[in-house]
Amino acid sequence: MSPPTVVILAAGQGTRMRSKRPKVLHDLCGRPLIAWTIAAAREAAAGRIVVVGGPAGELAGHLGDGVDLAVQAEARGTGDAVRAAVAERDREAVVIVLAGDVPLVTGGFIRELAAVHAASRAAATMATMVLPDPTGYGRVVRDPAGAVARVVETREPGDATDAERAIDEVNTGIFAFDGGALLDALAGLRAENAQGEYYLPDVLPLLTGAGLRIAAHVADDPGLLLGVNDRAGLAAVRAEAQRRIHRRHMLAGATIVEPASTSIDFGVEIGPDTVIEPCTQLLGATRVGPDARIGPHTTAIDSVLGAGTRVIHSHLQGAELRDGASCGPFAYLRPGALLREGARAGTFVEIKNSDIGPGAKIPHLSYIGDADVGEGSNLGAGSITANYDGRAKHRTRIGARVHGGVDTAYVAPVSVGDDAWTAAGSVVTDEVPPGSLAVARTRQTNVPGYDGRRRSDDPAA
Ligand code: UD1
Ligand code: CA
Repeated sequence: MSPPTVVILAAGQGTRMRSKRPKVLHDLCGRPLIAWTIAAAREAAAGRIVVVGGPAGELAGHLGDGVDLAVQAEARGTGDAVRAAVAERDREAVVIVLAGDVPLVTGGFIRELAAVHAASRAAATMATMVLPDPTGYGRVVRDPAGAVARVVETREPGDATDAERAIDEVNTGIFAFDGGALLDALAGLRAENAQGEYYLPDVLPLLTGAGLRIAAHVADDPGLLLGVNDRAGLAAVRAEAQRRIHRRHMLAGATIVEPASTSIDFGVEIGPDTVIEPCTQLLGATRVGPDARIGPHTTAIDSVLGAGTRVIHSHLQGAELRDGASCGPFAYLRPGALLREGARAGTFVEIKNSDIGPGAKIPHLSYIGDADVGEGSNLGAGSITANYDGRAKHRTRIGARVHGGVDTAYVAPVSVGDDAWTAAGSVVTDEVPPGSLAVARTRQTNVPGYDGRRRSDDPAA
């Protein structure tokens, strides 16, 4: 059998989101809704994948390679949207219809639906689910023999009777069709309903009317097929997606101490025996090696944290910690911050675009930007690189085993040789040769008897 054509509906206006952005481009755990559905279609080994978008073309560039974009000129309903995607060439194919706002569907479920469809010899197989609270979904009406007769929508008052509203089996919006039967039925759709739209489920009575069979496949995991119509629905789907991501990492050997306060994007990798402490977010393309301990209260975005790293109460974006490196509490590591093996950035330390050598330490209250710090150096509290002269950024080069005194300002461009020292409070503007001590501050002057003179000068005393 040839692989099915998968049609993904995503041209609705998403008015219930109350957003400038199309609904299917809203983020779900690190990628837009539509990317989840497309990934499931690919996983199901679809033949042609067609996304139906609106005329503004906002979805272009978000679909990935090998996905066609069909345009629905006007959002006139789900049936009209399918009509924009299927053509005569799909007549011999099985056409799977997915909704861009049902993002957690899996490749496995699509394959299962296709298998049920093939086995049932029906012209259409609808995926349904039973929900404790079916509000917002179309209800599945079955005939006395138990066969699916039609779907009643419930968005507008008067769409459905009270008895129909009480039905807890709903349309998931996912179908398998015989292409030819679908094409013929779409041609007969009418928009005679409260919304004046062409509803896709209305093809079902047209098919039975033509003597064809309809099958239903009741999903045993309704969590997979929840739809996103508004931001409350997005939060519910997000909770479900997050639960699944957590579970995948926990089964692979990571400890998540408190899942409820931990956000992990779908693309994140975590090694075994790593512990994720509470109130931690691992986002974007973040990768964490084995035996690390991340958190509590940490955000890592697009960062790479090696084996055995330790990160406490910190914010990292585009940073890399090699094996055994550590940071925090309260470190801020910005793009291009690299802490090599065993290096450490301590409390209230900000680092950007800097290479911190193996075992080097910047333990307290420092700003290091555009710098290279050699192996084993230790920069005291209050080390500051003055990297910006108001026009351009300049680099600071600090060698290996340097002892930076507290409150040293390195005025870039400047370099400090291996094994050099800086005196506390120095403003280093010139090169420091290897092994020497730079004292770059005014000498201390003591004024003897000063306090006594102040007292005798004071008329109030
Ligand atoms: C739809 C179903 C409902 C089902 C529910 C499951 C219809 C009429 N109703 O309702 O039975 O229980 O999904 O989640 O099919 N779209 C277009 N063009 C349009 C209209 C919609 O592409 O003209 C797209 C939307 O972008 C969305 C999907 O189709 O991705 C579903 O549309 P939506 O308006 O959300 O339908 P529901 O009210 O959820
Ligand atoms: Ca919907």
